[in-house]
Amino acid sequence: MTHDDIRSWLRQTEPGRLESLWKHADDVRRECVGDEVHLRGLIEISNHCSRQCLYCGVRADRTGLPRYRMTAGEILAAADKAVALGYGTVVLQSGEDWSIEARWLAEVIRRIKAETPLAITLSLGERTNDELALWRDAGADRYLLRFETSNKALFARIHPARPGAEPRDRLAILRYLRAMGYEIGSGVMVGIPGQSLDDLARDIELFGELDLDMIGLGPFIAHPDTPLGRDGQAWCLPPGEQAPADELTGCKAVALARIVCPRANIPSTTALATLNAEGGRQLGLARGGNVVMPNLTPPAYRAMYEIYPGKASCGETDEFDRQVKAGIVAMGRTIGRGRGDSGAYRLRQAPGPMKA
Ligand code: 5AD
Repeated sequence: MTHDDIRSWLRQTEPGRLESLWKHADDVRRECVGDEVHLRGLIEISNHCSRQCLYCGVRADRTGLPRYRMTAGEILAAADKAVALGYGTVVLQSGEDWSIEARWLAEVIRRIKAETPLAITLSLGERTNDELALWRDAGADRYLLRFETSNKALFARIHPARPGAEPRDRLAILRYLRAMGYEIGSGVMVGIPGQSLDDLARDIELFGELDLDMIGLGPFIAHPDTPLGRDGQAWCLPPGEQAPADELTGCKAVALARIVCPRANIPSTTALATLNAEGGRQLGLARGGNVVMPNLTPPAYRAMYEIYPGKASCGETDEFDRQVKAGIVAMGRTIGRGRGDSGAYRLRQAPGPMKA
């Protein structure tokens, strides 16, 4: 698919044409990753953050938000819950919290790996190469770092560098993670004020160039206690140019991501479920997605991990688990078994043809 194809799909409004996009994405999904929907237990281990991202509700200088950091015991208990529910992976996610000491986390990773069969995905921000290497050695399998937008000027505007530090290049970090042997995941927000439809088309093209193992995509949801939530309107491009932060554009991005990265694991994200509580999650799965990430963060902390308002919290853990599994079966899909490694990653690891 060329840049122009992606661009024109993003502008497409004709229902019959869109049906053919959904069908194509669903066909590619079935053929390349099958009917299994993998469940990843999301553990939001800390909402402390040293960064000032203009879109995010846990940004450092947001006052009035209570902060928490889970103990090793709490993280291990949540991992045990993932095992009990039959999940193959836990995702340890946090703000960019430099008080999460690298060696401490390496020990937590080692214990999860020793005590459970779980795959571990990390999503902890722009940590140093040495730390990323330490966690890989401890047994971490995958790393998620969204590049948020491929438009460099827009990225710099919404994502100020860490005070006193040089800006980091997220694409370079992703390349390093891949060289370390991690499965790599990235993605963007859809409809950030100032993001054009051309930017979004370029983002999707870049997913293919990076040959991502995992792709996380969700509509931007304005948070009133952030600079973009307060003045986002003023940043928006003229209608027709600005990428809309809506369900339709979110679904198009998922479908196009599936087509450019046929073997990637693509979640139907919480942001989609937040915009449409009844059907968002199902739509994501029907239009290219093959992963759901139920929240296993202890309920007392969940409300504090407020990256955007109204974040679908998944409700009570066991009840949500039942609902999600029933929803998957009702769609004619199956519940993923095992770790659910990315097919792209497996292909890359496989020994190539013998060279003469
Ligand atoms: N709306 C939608 N997504 C958001 N994220 C952060 N803030 C928002 C928001 N206001 C996304 C970012 C980040 C991921 C964990 O959550 O893409 O990488």
